[in-house]
Amino acid sequence: ATMKPSVYVTRPDVPSVGIDLLKEKCNVEMWSECKAPPYDELIKSVAGKNALFCNIADKVDKNVLDAAGSSLKVIATMSVGFEHIDVAEAKKRGIKVGYTPDVLTYAVAELTVGILLATSRRLFEAHREIFNGGWTSWSPSWMCGPSIRGKTVGIVGFGRIGQETARLLKGFGVKQFLYSGRKDHPEASDIGAVRMPVEEMLPKCDFIICALAMSPETKHYFNERLFNLMKPSAIFVNTSRGGVVDQDALIEALEKGKIRGAGLDVMTPEPIPPDHRLLKLPNCVVIPHIGSAGIESRNDMAELTARNILNALDGKPMPAEL
Ligand code: DGY
Repeated sequence: ATMKPSVYVTRPDVPSVGIDLLKEKCNVEMWSECKAPPYDELIKSVAGKNALFCNIADKVDKNVLDAAGSSLKVIATMSVGFEHIDVAEAKKRGIKVGYTPDVLTYAVAELTVGILLATSRRLFEAHREIFNGGWTSWSPSWMCGPSIRGKTVGIVGFGRIGQETARLLKGFGVKQFLYSGRKDHPEASDIGAVRMPVEEMLPKCDFIICALAMSPETKHYFNERLFNLMKPSAIFVNTSRGGVVDQDALIEALEKGKIRGAGLDVMTPEPIPPDHRLLKLPNCVVIPHIGSAGIESRNDMAELTARNILNALDGKPMPAEL
């Protein structure tokens, strides 16, 4: 009898649809805690495995690949982002790398709309007022914030998630969608968004949504210069990666009232220490990186990650290979 291939899964709480699939064909070993295995634990556990099932909180660098050795055939991350993996190094060694595009697009777009509303309509600030005694009476101007209807929404990074967010926001009566990015997106003609250089776009926007992928080119993309171009009434939302924002410049923009508010699902670092400056700003909504945390999308992500592994181990094309 041939030996079953071995898979190391870096979390115990991966949705069972993925784990059950793997278990049909593989020996599955799982890390026991709902947080990243310590680096040396990962190094130890990956040794001799044929596949690694990981996520964005697991750093898969050259040392991890060295530790895994030549038995490792595939790394599959349960995420669309992959900057935590040294993909070039993996490929050089003939290791396939899988990820989970598409299946989380809707969930992230939905959360982007949610955090935009939470910021513009000040949901968390208002919630706190109930408990801190700030709610003394209904009041005409209390807790007011801008509505979306009739406004201009600018999207920086008009890929899958940026486009889907625009589609969902359409129902709110947005007057005009604008976008900026490296290329034209004729496939999104249904949205009627107009492309322009970011410097031209930002001064026109009431809402600015960052949907940029993290890469060396996009690091600190949103810097002081760009925040200075925004309207004082603008609301900035980021659900992609904290690293694309120069966070000190954002904090300064929020403190000085260069923009009205910000809604962030991603920041630097993650997790953010509870006493961080960013959390002291009343006009900043912070959420702990839960964009893709729709039940359906997480199930689909787990299943796609498992299928990436099974196909790679079988020598078949992976459903989503990098
Ligand atoms: C991703 O997929 O890259 C998200 O950040 C986590 O789901």
